[in-house]
Amino acid sequence: MAETQSLTKPQNPHIVILPTPGTGHLNPLVEFAKRLVLQHYFSVSLILPTDGPIPESQNTFLNTLPSGIDYLLLPPVNFVDLPPEVNIVTRICLTITRSLASLREVLKSLVESKKVVALVVDLFGTDAFDVANEFKISPYMFYTSTAMMLSLAFYLPELDKTVSCEFKDLPAVHIPGCIPIHGKDLPDPVHDRKNEAYKWALHQTNRKKMAEGIILNSFKDLEPGAIKALQGKEPSNYKPTIYPVGPVVLMNTSSKVDDESSQCLKWLDEQPRGSALYISLGSGGTLSHEQLTELAIGLEMSEQRFLWVIRCPNDRIASGTYFNVQNSSNPLDFLPNGFLERTKGLGLVLPNWAPQAQILSHGSIGGFWTHCGWNSTLESMIHGVPLIAWPLYAEQRLNAVLLNEGLKVALRPKIGDNGIAGRLEIAEVVKELMGGEEGREVRRKMRELQDAAAMVLNEDGSSTKALAELASKWKEVSH
Ligand code: UDX
Repeated sequence: MAETQSLTKPQNPHIVILPTPGTGHLNPLVEFAKRLVLQHYFSVSLILPTDGPIPESQNTFLNTLPSGIDYLLLPPVNFVDLPPEVNIVTRICLTITRSLASLREVLKSLVESKKVVALVVDLFGTDAFDVANEFKISPYMFYTSTAMMLSLAFYLPELDKTVSCEFKDLPAVHIPGCIPIHGKDLPDPVHDRKNEAYKWALHQTNRKKMAEGIILNSFKDLEPGAIKALQGKEPSNYKPTIYPVGPVVLMNTSSKVDDESSQCLKWLDEQPRGSALYISLGSGGTLSHEQLTELAIGLEMSEQRFLWVIRCPNDRIASGTYFNVQNSSNPLDFLPNGFLERTKGLGLVLPNWAPQAQILSHGSIGGFWTHCGWNSTLESMIHGVPLIAWPLYAEQRLNAVLLNEGLKVALRPKIGDNGIAGRLEIAEVVKELMGGEEGREVRRKMRELQDAAAMVLNEDGSSTKALAELASKWKEVSH
């Protein structure tokens, strides 16, 4: 990495980054901002649209940004007119739409004092492109998911034209550059073609084409086919240049950790190398009460060490809401009777949140039971930790297919006809990952990807070069 110098010279080209609400968007965009500042001497403003107070974990994170990056919270948008059951994607997109007036004001004052060359939004922020154009600032997107998902996004209009049934009934969908997937593994918004979310996804394909470039959190050795298809403009005719700069992940920072977090890191220090399974379902993912019970008993039956970040189960799972960020009661109350006593010494259960980047970098972790959120996946990859894929919502089933069938770095438990993976299945898959033959093979594959991820970030690695190409383009614009 290049040496840090003169980070905040007033005339450094300035980049404005607009993450949509959610830790899974904020984390990679902050890391991306750090690379722009530390490796290419840009200055960066993070402008954060909000729909209420931001979580404490994000607050701590934002208060430890390096010099050269500043941040500003836009006034919270009002959702009193929305029904409570409104879909999460609609809510996120509306946060951006309803923040455009405040964004315009902020950009107006930024362009008066700085050489602003680009506005970078994430995958839900394309409405802000219009504001970038008003100020003659180049619109860019940082895509926080896979090349496979992006390839699907550009392929969707063609799929829409050529297929008449619901996509979930298709036995094989051939996303350009990717392994075939079953239609039921497509992301949530494209499951029901009559739904508003589907129309939004189609509309988004057109909005994405307004970007001058799409910065992709993936790398060539990870998704060679999809990246080639995107760069070769195979999915359909679109114009943005693709910059695969990944993995861009939250690094193990030495930032202050609270008591609960330091207790879990201490616990990990006491475990044998590679012996513990880490279980976490991302920023808001949760299970039904029945599935939570099966997971607990399955873990106990596996007799493997574990560190489990647990959330209250959600009784709305039947309606597809695998989210629970309310944290109003104690998740430990939902564990089977006597579970904590019986697994004492073997496992540790943490309510709601854990310092994941630190946990995954700890040598005692030997496997990760994940919802396949793309950040969690990449964070595991850079430490060579193999996975058990447990997708919940959004594009996570697509990611699970990529990880299990494509890259072969994840095992996947079988789900019964009742929609539940039973305790026996869970115990088997956990034992297999931590000590079985198949587990050894997925570990070996994950270590290969770990090495590949390190190589692409070397001085002459493909991701370093893609970022350098983008940086020099932005510097040219600023002259
Ligand atoms: C969703 C999507 O499914 C994901 O693929 C998309 O790219 C972003 O939004 P999310 O639940 O946010 O997923 O998961 P993920 O992408 O894995 O991001 C979660 C982030 O929160 C990670 O950086 C993880 O380290 C952090 N985290 C999560 C913690 O630090 N502690 C926790 O306890 C849980």
